Amino acid sequence: MCGIVGYVGPKETLDVLLGGLKRLEYRGYDSAGVSVISELGLETRKKAGKLTNLVNEIAEHPMRPSHIGIGHTRWATHGAPTDGNAHPHLGGPTQKLSLIHNGIIENFAELKAELLAEGTKFASETDSEVAAHLIAREYASVGDLPTAFANVVNRLHGAFTLLVVHVDQPDVVMAARRNAPLVIGLGDGENFLGSDVAAFVEHTKRAISVGQDQIVILRANSVEVRGFDGTPATPEEFTVDWDASAASKGGWPSFMDKEIHDQPQAVGDTLMGRIDADGVVQLSEVESLGVDWVNNIDRLVFVACGTASYAGDVAKYAVEKWSRIPTSVELSHEFRYRDPIITDRTLVVAISQSGETMDTLMATRYAKEAGAKVLAICNTQGATLARESDAVIYTHAGPEVAVASTKALTAQITAGYLLGLLLAQLRNSMPATARQALGQELLKMPARVQQVIDGLAQPRQLGKDFADAKSVLFLGRNVGFPIAMEGALKLKELAYIHAEGFAAGELKHGPIALIDEGQPVIVIVPSPREADTLHPKVISNIQEIRARGAKVIAVAEEGDAIVGDYAEHVIFTPQCQSIFSPILSVIPLQAFAMELATAKGLDVDQPRNLAKSVTVE
Ligand code: M6R
Repeated sequence: MCGIVGYVGPKETLDVLLGGLKRLEYRGYDSAGVSVISELGLETRKKAGKLTNLVNEIAEHPMRPSHIGIGHTRWATHGAPTDGNAHPHLGGPTQKLSLIHNGIIENFAELKAELLAEGTKFASETDSEVAAHLIAREYASVGDLPTAFANVVNRLHGAFTLLVVHVDQPDVVMAARRNAPLVIGLGDGENFLGSDVAAFVEHTKRAISVGQDQIVILRANSVEVRGFDGTPATPEEFTVDWDASAASKGGWPSFMDKEIHDQPQAVGDTLMGRIDADGVVQLSEVESLGVDWVNNIDRLVFVACGTASYAGDVAKYAVEKWSRIPTSVELSHEFRYRDPIITDRTLVVAISQSGETMDTLMATRYAKEAGAKVLAICNTQGATLARESDAVIYTHAGPEVAVASTKALTAQITAGYLLGLLLAQLRNSMPATARQALGQELLKMPARVQQVIDGLAQPRQLGKDFADAKSVLFLGRNVGFPIAMEGALKLKELAYIHAEGFAAGELKHGPIALIDEGQPVIVIVPSPREADTLHPKVISNIQEIRARGAKVIAVAEEGDAIVGDYAEHVIFTPQCQSIFSPILSVIPLQAFAMELATAKGLDVDQPRNLAKSVTVE
């Protein structure tokens, strides 16, 4: 969703803003714009479409050198993605103020009516322009930008990150944050603002996460943070552990391709230092919840959306099996609207790559109000979710830029395994030898992920071969079921074709009616090696669908000597404990979807209609 950059300092502002917006492109947007204060006063350029349109506009109408400015990529909510609705928006009759906004101002209609009654002329259909005019009007009345800004943000309802510059105060960028992300980058004689650290990580790794209902007064040599009520705040600084080069393609044709290949490292880095050679988990982050309290948990609820919810679905199998804590998975946006039973003995585990998904934030706030403890599994330092949770397990996947989640998922599942093992350890819910053997097995997974990556030529070719498919179905059982759902989601979001994931056992209860001559079906086949194996049942399912004309691609374990007799194509993944197989079996599905979409000529990094970080409910 919208990306925001602000800068004040000695560098050429336009370079900083355009560089920051480029790095925020992954969030998804449909127009872009910048304002700088130069010797000519306020200069603004904005354009619908990709950032290159804005760059071309600036080339046609160059801007003067500047040392302060704001930049924005907009994901349309109120008003179509046109030049006029693009941000920044100018405020007041003299148009000396420029504003950018991420979020939705819920009471904009009544505020707009107030301004219209006074004769204010609007240049756009956005809710954001209302805030620009209100602040300009307030500034004209009180003569002090921080005061005017605070007076107005206190009148706004909803979700907003706002950045404002004003010609009369050309050394300051004002910012405010409520229910939308905002991070400060601290430089030497310069300072930055961004929707996330990607906006400024090439310039500084020192950052501050702005809290809920806080205002920032940013100058080249000072940063002041206050509450909306004026109370001074002392936010904590942190060091960004992402390297700027990690957020570039590094020679890969797409970010998605790169991120698929990052997975051995994402899984390895998420495990690093958290399990010792004996398989004992050391997750000090979670132990801060208190051993006594951990022993008291009577249920665990994962909340998440999209791909992150499938990580929760996989983790549920591990956590419940090993710790014996009743565990469920809820889509964040459904969770709080059904009056769930949450008590002070509930552990809510919120999974989010960005840590800014509004649905998940609202779910966790609801859970906390109901007395639960909240543990975040999050990939982004300084994210709102991390700050608002009682404890955080960071996934160390590095920046994930492609809209379609890949390495974040395998890192989230890995973190889920760590959590399951830790809970089992703290609660003594399984024999130590068995638990430690699992921990030792988990340590072997990055090498196995690498083996899958080394064999991706086959699923990639299959993606090309099936480029004309109108629909693809996915089947899985047990931990393969969420992976079937994820395979279908990848295909929907990247290739815009119908795809559904089903529990293989559910097939006979309805979905088998979809099978027709030539229907491609991808089946995640469980290992044939384990005692309580589901393997024969899934092989029967394959026979049932093939008898009705399905073309079957199986994802199966190396050494499965049976599956080849029943499927047209078999993609083999290395042997491992079944519970750990999802972080292997999902990878060919990612590659299949990416290649199929590429063969259709689609942009796999920025699929249509989607945003990387969904910061509205
Ligand atoms: O940042 P989050 O992990 O909270 O995002 C959750 C979903 O929006 C995200 O996983 C989405 O489903 C992806 N586009 C899937 O590839």
